[in-house]
Amino acid sequence: MRRAKISIIGAGNTGAACAVWAASKELGDIVLLDIAEGVAKGKALDLYEAAPIEGFDCRIEGGSDYALIADSDIVIITAGIPRKPGMSRDDLIQTNVKIVREVSQNVAKYAPNSILIVLSNPLDAMVYTAWKSSGFPASRVLGQAGCLDVARFRAFLSLKLGCSVEDIQALLLGGHGDDMVPLPRFTSVHGIPIDQLLSEADINECVQRAKVGGGEIVQLMGTSAYYAPAAGVIQMAEAIIKDKKRILPCAAYCEDAFGVAPGQTGKGFFVGVPCILGKGGMEKVVEVKFNDAEAALFAESAQHVKDLVAVVQKLFPELG
Ligand code: APR
Repeated sequence: MRRAKISIIGAGNTGAACAVWAASKELGDIVLLDIAEGVAKGKALDLYEAAPIEGFDCRIEGGSDYALIADSDIVIITAGIPRKPGMSRDDLIQTNVKIVREVSQNVAKYAPNSILIVLSNPLDAMVYTAWKSSGFPASRVLGQAGCLDVARFRAFLSLKLGCSVEDIQALLLGGHGDDMVPLPRFTSVHGIPIDQLLSEADINECVQRAKVGGGEIVQLMGTSAYYAPAAGVIQMAEAIIKDKKRILPCAAYCEDAFGVAPGQTGKGFFVGVPCILGKGGMEKVVEVKFNDAEAALFAESAQHVKDLVAVVQKLFPELG
């Protein structure tokens, strides 16, 4: 049986972390591609040299030639600049839209049957860019944000509760900005509603910390987070490669996201919603019934996404 092939474009911090998580799960053969050829080759070789110790059987190659990504099942896009302290994800748009556009065009040429998972920020606008630039059907274009954001929310709740992260289930939707929408009403610990275990103030503290969790790391390290974002990508990749039909929160194409119409962005837009992931990529959006307050928060977050897509369309009218 043929092994899965995962190509990662951008061999920087997040790209390398994706390669490490994918190798540790032995998900398939891995390609690291970067304009910095030596970095991609060096990190691929370095990781392969860990295989005898860690015991994973994956081929790991690196380079800057797109021919390397031929026949990929999954292509992960991490190319782009990360945040510096004081920057929002939106501040990256001018630079990253050009990079993601060029990368996606190359992916369409060299790995036309792959499923794309985008990590570059501002995430929702970059997924839109990748979709338009690749010409791929929307089911084969996804963005990673929700897996990370919900993991942060679960991590903070577990610290508050002093219980295992494994037992915390949570839902978080919307765009990957500070107005993302964690949903305490859909959050539980081994089935016990979170409001039976924590006070409203404690829950709100975790909600707030999750929303600005990326910024907290940028302040500490001087650059964007990479271990947890990469883990989120590989969680999605694993669900697709193993055809697990997992329900994970992803930036996925919606024509009408839970009552929010696409508006000025044309036919549809990408926003964080729960999706069934399997070998077809994004196989189904799972509808959630909001109360009025949740619907208002989701609409506000979706509007932010639409505004960012409008910036992309202004920069590159052909992506309209
Ligand atoms: N093609 C291929 N690789 C590119 C290109 C390109 N056109 N442009 C830049 N790169 C590569 C850089 O050479 C660098 O190695 O992308 C890599 C980015 O790595 P880092 O600078 O370490 O950034 P990282 O922390 O990985 O973040 C990348 O992911 O999470 C998001 O917000 C983050 O947008 C940022 C992206």
